[in-house]
Amino acid sequence: MSDRVFIFDTTLRDGEQALSASLSVHKKLQIAKQLERLGVDIMEVGFPISSPGDFESVQTIAREIKDSRVCALARAVKKDIDAAAQSLSVADQFRIHTFISTSTIHVENKLKRSFEDVLEMAVSSVKHARNYTDDVEFSCEDAGRTPIDNLCRTVEAAINAGATTINIPDTVGYTIPNEYGGIIQTLFNRVPNIDKAIISVHCHDDLGLSVANSIAAVQNGARQIECTINGIGERAGNCSLEEIAMIMATRAEFLGVHTNINAKEIHRTSQLVSNLCNSPIQANKAIVGSNAFTHSSGIHQDGMLKSGNTYEIMTPESIGLPRNHLNMTSRSGRHVIKHRMDEMGYKEQDFDLDVLYNKFLELADKKGQVFDYDLEALAFMEKQSDGAEQVKMISAVSHSDSKGNANATICLEIGGEQHTRTAEGNGPVDAAYHAIMDMTEQKVDITRYELSAAGSGQDALGQVDIVAHYKGQNFHGMGLETDVIAASAQALINVINLIIRADMVADKKQQMINKQELGTV
Ligand code: KIV
Ligand code: ZN
Repeated sequence: MSDRVFIFDTTLRDGEQALSASLSVHKKLQIAKQLERLGVDIMEVGFPISSPGDFESVQTIAREIKDSRVCALARAVKKDIDAAAQSLSVADQFRIHTFISTSTIHVENKLKRSFEDVLEMAVSSVKHARNYTDDVEFSCEDAGRTPIDNLCRTVEAAINAGATTINIPDTVGYTIPNEYGGIIQTLFNRVPNIDKAIISVHCHDDLGLSVANSIAAVQNGARQIECTINGIGERAGNCSLEEIAMIMATRAEFLGVHTNINAKEIHRTSQLVSNLCNSPIQANKAIVGSNAFTHSSGIHQDGMLKSGNTYEIMTPESIGLPRNHLNMTSRSGRHVIKHRMDEMGYKEQDFDLDVLYNKFLELADKKGQVFDYDLEALAFMEKQSDGAEQVKMISAVSHSDSKGNANATICLEIGGEQHTRTAEGNGPVDAAYHAIMDMTEQKVDITRYELSAAGSGQDALGQVDIVAHYKGQNFHGMGLETDVIAASAQALINVINLIIRADMVADKKQQMINKQELGTV
């Protein structure tokens, strides 16, 4: 048996169908192109009969994608298969994926037919699809709960009808790894023509077992895994592509199989899907969560500084993520702070480690996480506290209407003096930002603005998080107020204070470099 496992990505079909808003054709194409770069073997990109929009996006993607095979979904009925074939016909090579439920629960309660009818529909739909292409996949929906004799009969009949890939979905995420692996093993033992098709698996994550089940299936002979980026999909989602790819890369020796995935594209793909689908990734998500390569505890940080393999089984670089710095919190030891300062180019004589570490601990207690720019500021400044901020908000008043007229009057204390400015904008936040940038004479390039509710219900606080880019660095500002305009203003003022401080640090750093250079002449 081959040791190559084919990766069938269904982000744009099973993943997309679970989103609160469907993706535009343009966004789907952007994702498809990135999936091609990632090296997926097959991408399932829609269900053409379901809407003209889906038909159009399948067609557009089929026209553009060359290195991965494009596939579309069809129920086991003629009109679905015809629509799939028509939308895919612009591609050089394509796959039609047709399916019907085989579990007694689905056959009796959903299809309201007999199992014999279902078998006949499976066979005739595969034969019909074969008129359009010799790459036909057939799925026994809810295979995980299908009586094993019925499953074996369906698989054998579909292969005889011409299916080249047979998919065994655990549609409701019900099975346990041993059990699911056992189903695959039974198919290999009992279906006489099983070697004429690739056996595929498609697991949902209702019990959090989709990845484990897929791996168990591969250990029992499956050679295609259906999965999605970030595990998005129906209900609890699908098997996550990045986890499968990294399991096979990291445990290649143990598993004895490999994929064609270019792992260095994983981080980029994950971010793109998360952003375009408006589907945030939990921080502790394996492989792509923001904490996946961040070491927080003092003991772990100490181990990592001594040797990377103490707490890392794969590197962030292997998934295309620039190395994450150690998470600097009150749990970080002195050596972590010294190491960061070294990495940023500071020599021991440039700062007093005892003083710096004490200031760092005070700040970490207040802020939680301390960033590089905070550490630099601490190293240079006499005292660092919120009270040292140059700009403070006194008040924010705004007016806006539904026609897009808006103005805001902001009162700030800048370096101890009060200033007030009114400005207009295309909305109240825009107006407030014009007023603040005007008064502080700071032109800030805001690359991200996020508004969320801290708490629940209509009286929740509005939390605004912004990221601004300034002289090659990103600064994060946060505002939390009952009034979302005031929260937005506060977030920008946070950023402006960080920028002012960064400029002061840069000046002092330059003075330090000048002094060092003079000392060496
Ligand atoms: O979960 C499922 O069974 C499916 C099929 C259409 C393959 O998505
Ligand atoms: Zn599914």
